Parts: sequence; C-alpha cells; structure tokens
Amino acid sequence: EEEDEEQSKEESSEEDTSSEEEEEEDNATETGGLKEAAETKQEVKLEQNVAGPDEQKEAIPARKTAQSKQLSEPAVFIPVDRSAEVQEARLKLPVLGEEQVIMEAVRENPCVVICGETGSGKTTQVPQFLYEAGYARDNRIIGITEPRRVAAVSMSHRVAKEMNLPRQVVSYQIRYEGNVTSDTKIKFMTDGVLLKEIQKDFLLQRYSVIIIDEAHERSVYTDILIGLLSRIVPLRNKKGMPMKLLIMSATLRVEDFTENQKLFRTPPPVVKVDARQFPVTVHFNKRTPLEDYTGEAFQKTCKIHRMLPPGGILVFLTGQAEVHSLCRRLRKAFPFRKSSTAGAEDEEADTAEAMKKFKKAKQKKTVSLPRIDLDNYSALPMDEGDEDREAGIGDEEDGGSDLELGDDPAETDDKADPSIPLYVLPLYSLLAPEQQAKVFRPPPPGTRLCVVATNVAETSLTIPGIKYVVDCGRVKKRYYDRVTGVSSFKVTWTSQASANQRAGRAGRTEAGHCYRLYSSAVFGDFSQFSEAEITRRPVEDLVLQMKDLNIEKVVNFPFPTPPSAEALVAAEELLVSLGALEEPPRSGRMTDLQRAKLSCPITPLGRAMAAFPVAPRYAKMLALGKQQDCLPYIIAVVSAMTVRELFEDFDRPARSDDESSKLNQRRARLAQMRRLWAGQGASLLLGDLMVMLGAVGACEFAGCTPKFCEENGLRNKAMVEIRRLRSQLTNAVNAVCPEVGVFVDPKMAPPTEHQVLCLRQIVLAGLGDHLARRVQAEDMLDPKWKNAYKTTLMDDPVFIHPNSALFKTLPEFVVYQEIMETSKMYMRGVSAVEAEWIPQLLPQYCHFGPALDSPAPWFCSSTGTIRCHRSSTFFRVAWQLPAVEKE
Ligand code: CDP
Ligand code: MG
Repeated sequence: EEEDEEQSKEESSEEDTSSEEEEEEDNATETGGLKEAAETKQEVKLEQNVAGPDEQKEAIPARKTAQSKQLSEPAVFIPVDRSAEVQEARLKLPVLGEEQVIMEAVRENPCVVICGETGSGKTTQVPQFLYEAGYARDNRIIGITEPRRVAAVSMSHRVAKEMNLPRQVVSYQIRYEGNVTSDTKIKFMTDGVLLKEIQKDFLLQRYSVIIIDEAHERSVYTDILIGLLSRIVPLRNKKGMPMKLLIMSATLRVEDFTENQKLFRTPPPVVKVDARQFPVTVHFNKRTPLEDYTGEAFQKTCKIHRMLPPGGILVFLTGQAEVHSLCRRLRKAFPFRKSSTAGAEDEEADTAEAMKKFKKAKQKKTVSLPRIDLDNYSALPMDEGDEDREAGIGDEEDGGSDLELGDDPAETDDKADPSIPLYVLPLYSLLAPEQQAKVFRPPPPGTRLCVVATNVAETSLTIPGIKYVVDCGRVKKRYYDRVTGVSSFKVTWTSQASANQRAGRAGRTEAGHCYRLYSSAVFGDFSQFSEAEITRRPVEDLVLQMKDLNIEKVVNFPFPTPPSAEALVAAEELLVSLGALEEPPRSGRMTDLQRAKLSCPITPLGRAMAAFPVAPRYAKMLALGKQQDCLPYIIAVVSAMTVRELFEDFDRPARSDDESSKLNQRRARLAQMRRLWAGQGASLLLGDLMVMLGAVGACEFAGCTPKFCEENGLRNKAMVEIRRLRSQLTNAVNAVCPEVGVFVDPKMAPPTEHQVLCLRQIVLAGLGDHLARRVQAEDMLDPKWKNAYKTTLMDDPVFIHPNSALFKTLPEFVVYQEIMETSKMYMRGVSAVEAEWIPQLLPQYCHFGPALDSPAPWFCSSTGTIRCHRSSTFFRVAWQLPAVEKE
C-alpha cells in the first residue's frame, strides 16, 4: 500500500510540472547522457554548462576562435580541375546559382538545411562546394550519408569523375565494402555506416562536415543521426574543433527538423534551391487495377513505346521480383537485335556475375577481417532501411493480359517509330553496382531507354533523359504487428508527396508525361506525406543500438519524430528479457512514460548482439550459436526465418478441377518432403525450424536449382535469398568474433542429435518471449481450448498449424516465430522446448519464491513459475516448473 501511495504522489507531481519544465529537464538529462557517452568513448572533459540546444546559440560566438576561423572561413580556395564538359553541365544545375548563399549560411551557422528538387544538384555539387572552400583540409574530411547503398556508391563515382580525382580521394563505404583510404577527402556512406562510426568515435573527429542527404525519406537511421549530430556539433564547437551539419531534403517539408525545439533551439536556416522543372502532364487511369498492376504497367509501357515520340521511360514498381518480372516481359515483347543486345542477357549475367563477386568477396573478407574483441564492439546491425531486401512479395507474372486502358491525350501522337528497340534496365537497391551504373549511361544509339525501378529512382538517383513515367502508385513497406511483434513487408498505396516526386522525374530535361496506374479519386485518398519510418516499426534494435552508444535514457533522445513511449517500453522489456540490458530496479505500477524513463544499461551480451545485422531475438541466437559447433546451423535457421516464406502455397483454392488434382499432388509432395526434412526422434522436436534447416540443406545439396525447388514445393527466390543471407551473417559473425572463424559451406551436413538439442536451447533463448504452453486437460472446460496453447501475449487460444511438423506431437512447451491469424490463431515456426530448460535459459521470466497457502500463479514453492514481462497479466495457468538449484 505504501508503495502505491508513493507511486501516486510521484504521478501527481509529474502532472503538476509544466510541459516546458519537463522539456527542460529532458534536455538536461539527455545532454548528460550524451556527455557520458562522449566521456566514456572519448575521455573528453566537458564543462558543466554545455547544454545541448543552448549550444546552438553559443555556437556562433564560439566559432570566432582563431582555430575555428581557420576552418570555417578558409583564406584559400582549393582549385578543382574539371573538364570543360563537366563544367558546362554543372553550370546548368540550379544549385550552382545558390553556391554563395549556401556557403555563407554554412559559415555563419553550425547547421543548415538545404531543400531542392531531385536533380537540382545537391548531392553531387554541395560536397564540391565544401571541398573548394577548404573543408577537406587539415586531415579532416567531408562526409555524406545516404539512406541507400545505390546512391552512396554511384554518387561517389560521379563526384570523383566530375572533380577529376581518383576514387581513393572521393570514396564510398557501404556495409561490407568500400574504397576509403587515408587519402580520402570526400566520403559517401550509408547512414548505417556513420552510425557505426559514432559508436567508435563519438565526436567524429575525422570529419569537418557531415551532410545528411535525402533527409525527407525519414529513414530511421537518418533520423537518429540528425538527433545525435544535433548534440555532437555543439560539443565539437565547444571543444574548438568546429564541425558543420548540413541536412539536405528533396521536399520543402522540413519542420520536423527546423521547428523541433528538442533538436535545435535556434531553428537552422533553410536554403531553397529552385529547380528548373519542365511541365509534366499527369494522366490518371480511369479505373484502378487492384491486383495486376505489373501487368498494367506492362501494357502502358508497350503503348508508350509503340505510340509516343522518343524519350526514356521510367516505371515505378515496388520490389525486386516485380522489377525483374516486368523486365523479362518487356524484353520478350521488344526483343533486341544482335547488335544491341547489351541489356538482353542481363539477368543471367547479373546472377552469374553476382555469384562470382560474392564468392570472391566472401573469401577476401573472411581472411582480411580485423580481430576485435567482444567488449570493444563495432559492427552494426543494419538493415539500412532497404525495402528491396525482401524477396517474398510480387511473384512471377505470366503472359500478357489484354486490358483496355483509359484514354491518353498523348496517344494520338503519331511521330513515334515502333521499330526502335527498347533498352530495358532494372534498378533496385540490391542490384550489383555495375548494373546500376548502366542507367546513367546513354542507351545504345537507336534505342529507347526503359528503366524499371523501385522507389530508389524516386529521389536518390536522377536518371538522365526520362520523358515518361509510369507509376504503379504503390510502395513496399515494412509493417509491424503489435500483437505478434513480427514485422512483415506489405505493398500499400504511396503518399501524394511520393507520387508527385515520381511524376517529377519526367520533367528533368524537357516537358514530360506521367501515367498513373490509378484513378484521381484513389490519388485523393493517399496520405499527404509518408510517415517517418520510426513510427511504424519496432524499435528494439534501435534501442539496442542507442544503448550501445551509451545513451541510457532513450526516451529523452532528440528524435525528429519520437516513437511512442509504449513502443520504447516494449523494446526495453524485450531487451531486458533477452539479457541485452540490465534489469531495471523493481517498482510498482508505472505509466509507460515513467517506465520508459527508467534506464537499463547494456550488458556485454547486448554489445555482442548489437553487432549482428538481424533483429535482437535472432541476434541472441547468433551470439550463443558458437557453442557446440552450432553456428552454421543457427545462421541457416536465422536466415530462413528472416525470409518471408520458404514454401510454395498450395493451400490456395484451385481454379479448375484439373488444377485441383495438380495442387493436391503438389501438396502431398510438399507434405512428404516436410516429413522427411523434419526427421524423427530428436530432430523432430526442433520442429518447423528443423524443416527449414532440412529444406536449406537439401536444396544446397541439389545446387539450389529452380528445378529442385519446383519439384519439392520450395520457392526458389526464397532459397537464393537465404543463400545470400547466410553468407552475409557469416561475415558479420566473423567480424564480431574472428576467433570462431565460422565458414559456411553451402552444403551442410545434418546436425547430430547432440547439436539438435543445443539448437533447441539456443532457439528457446532467442524466442523466449514467444513461449506457449499446451492447455492442460483440467483447464479445458471450454471445447475451444482443445489442443490449444496459451501464450504470454493473448488470452485467446493459439494452435499448431496442421502443416507444422509438430501438429501431431503437441509438445507441452513450444516457442514460435510468429502468430498468423487465418481461420484460427496459428503459431508458425514452432519448436518444442523441455520444461526444465525454461528456468535455466529464461530466468528472467521465472519467479522463485517460498510456498504460499493459497498459491497464486506467480508464487510456487521452490519451483519456478513463469510470468510475462510484456504484459501486465500473469498466466492464468500456473506453469509449475521442476526445481532448480538456486545459489
Ligand atoms: O541530389 P540532387 O537530386 O539534387 O541532384 P544530383 O544527384 O546531384 O544530380 C545532379 C545532376 O547530375 C542530375 O541532373 C543528374 O542527371 C546528373 N547525374 C548524372 O548524370 N549521373 C550520375 N551518376 C549522377 C548525377
Ligand atoms: Mg540527391
């Protein structure tokens, strides 16, 4: 009772505080947190009054020191030897006209925002302005972050070429590759890479300027970088090592940065670059295809090519699979003659070449990775905000359909020459850089360029010569299910702002046309802007990253758009339960905000986990996987769980009797293979994860061929993706603990019984919060609980799916990967757990205490009872556990 009273007092005093004061306090604490971070990492001594946002005001006088003057107002102009051709092209870029304004703003302010249409020259020119103004002298360099790897690589090449400088001077760094040297002066990198560098050197002392490019995309890492830099820049200036921050955006909507008191108390100046944009006529479809928009895009592209005058076509689809499918269809429809087949065999060549490179890179990396110890962690769990990663959505299209399209005003134009070949190129984030570079080169003479792209072409890259845009109006986004905690990719409508950006791509060189494959009414229903990624995504990985930066109170972090307190609390609780963060002090009832304000420091395990490029649950498995030679298997299982769906879906209703019998055959075959892969006895208890492991193993033995996949009900794309992920995770593990020296042989022998036992325990340790217990006979008063399981998250019964390897076994305890609701709530990715492992591997979930007369579910004599951290309700069913030795 006493505790409760204290609690309510605290609550009321919290309410009394005016919002302004609260903010003050938050800022102070936050700066404290960051200072600590800087101190522990950098051993810098900071004076007491270095408060974050105030620093913005002080920063200007602070600059007037001799040292800062030298850097920010250089007396010399560093000449750049550009070719006449480049010089001429540059002069046409709108940003050139603003050079004086931009450089003056940069000199006068610690932080500047630059807004300008895509293609106005921000990315390629602003680093050059800074270079010429001397910002890359005195061993300091200019850093530019991009949310996408494509942009980091291609922009570094472009700028090197424009400046006539070698690539070891204008360099790039993306997750696993780069060409940065000690001579580097301008460095393009993904936002994830810079975040990783902040972990090593909080003050980023190598840099004189950081440019955050594509800030309008609001990628999670970009947002976090802006938050961090809003504090780092003042700290640097205070220390007499001046630093500048430039935020570049393709839209004018920058209030989240400029009018955010928590970020910058003095709003940074905004320099607008007026783009020279030619008019773009927008054509809406009369109707909106709900399913086959790839087919519709095909029809529209064919029509443009056949009927409209010369000019490149840019098609926007949502993902890699769709892009390839449309490229194939277009190449089939407009085959190249021998003389101009440059792009025709791309696909096969892509894959072969990629595999070759991939093998080479793998060998090189396994050998040359530096040895680092776990406590001095440096690798990053980066997804780099790349929506193209996932291969699951948008499967093969078959032959063309005969849809009648709406009227196009431009259609009557008859100047077109239908005999011109179509030069079709794919463009998406994961495409090999040499392939990506092709879109910037002029198409072979006498052909029409047609680029089929994902939203990378929306703002990051400007493709020359585009006159027609075909926009499917959709985007692939990651969604987060609050109930199951699992994220997935979904194709949804894009925002009006994005659709307009896409249309704008048609008006760069002359007046253009944009064909929207949806009606104007549908467009009217689009949201105005895309929401910041951080608000629609789980944050446990971010929280882990920040903790790894020694930012203890994540709730006080100056996010441009903060995630909800609820999301932060859920993330911390999960991380505590995984052992990545220390347990918070025990306390009574609290609001989410109060709980979010508790700080849980990171543990050594958490630091190791922070180094793996996967979600924390899977990272925990990887961190434990080195025991008993389980790593290759854990890597395979984690890869398989990360890919959306390994198996073909034969459960869909058949469209004809003929198809029905075929489906039945294939279903039976897949069921047979599942049984085979699941094995018997010990291995069967690893359940669906054993099936995944068996499928990956069998498929690799067969050479991962489409034929093998087709025959056995596997999705070839998923299997190819798993192969890629396995290699990537192997590199990540080797980077964190080179002494393990894991080498993933694609052909993997089945695990021994002993290893299966270990694998099951590792899986339990990772998926601990996804534990479920079969409902006991005496609790089955209601028939709906027959064969049901109870989870920690829901009151409703959940079930093992009939397709699961464990459907008939019905083990008492299981862990699951996710819950899918179809006709019932079904657990997917189920694996059996032995009861006695739970108190040993998940002590955080178990409560030990003396026996009570009336045993409440969470108190049991000398045995553990499981309670759940993620919900306030305890299990209705007491989970009696075998006694464990307590010290
Ligand atoms: O960053 P922003 O969108 O403002 O423009 P940019 O990427 O700097 O591009 C400026 C100009 O350079 C555009 O007109 C592009 O067409 C051109 N460019 C190019 O031709 N080849 C590249 N690899 C990159 C840019
Ligand atoms: Mg740009």
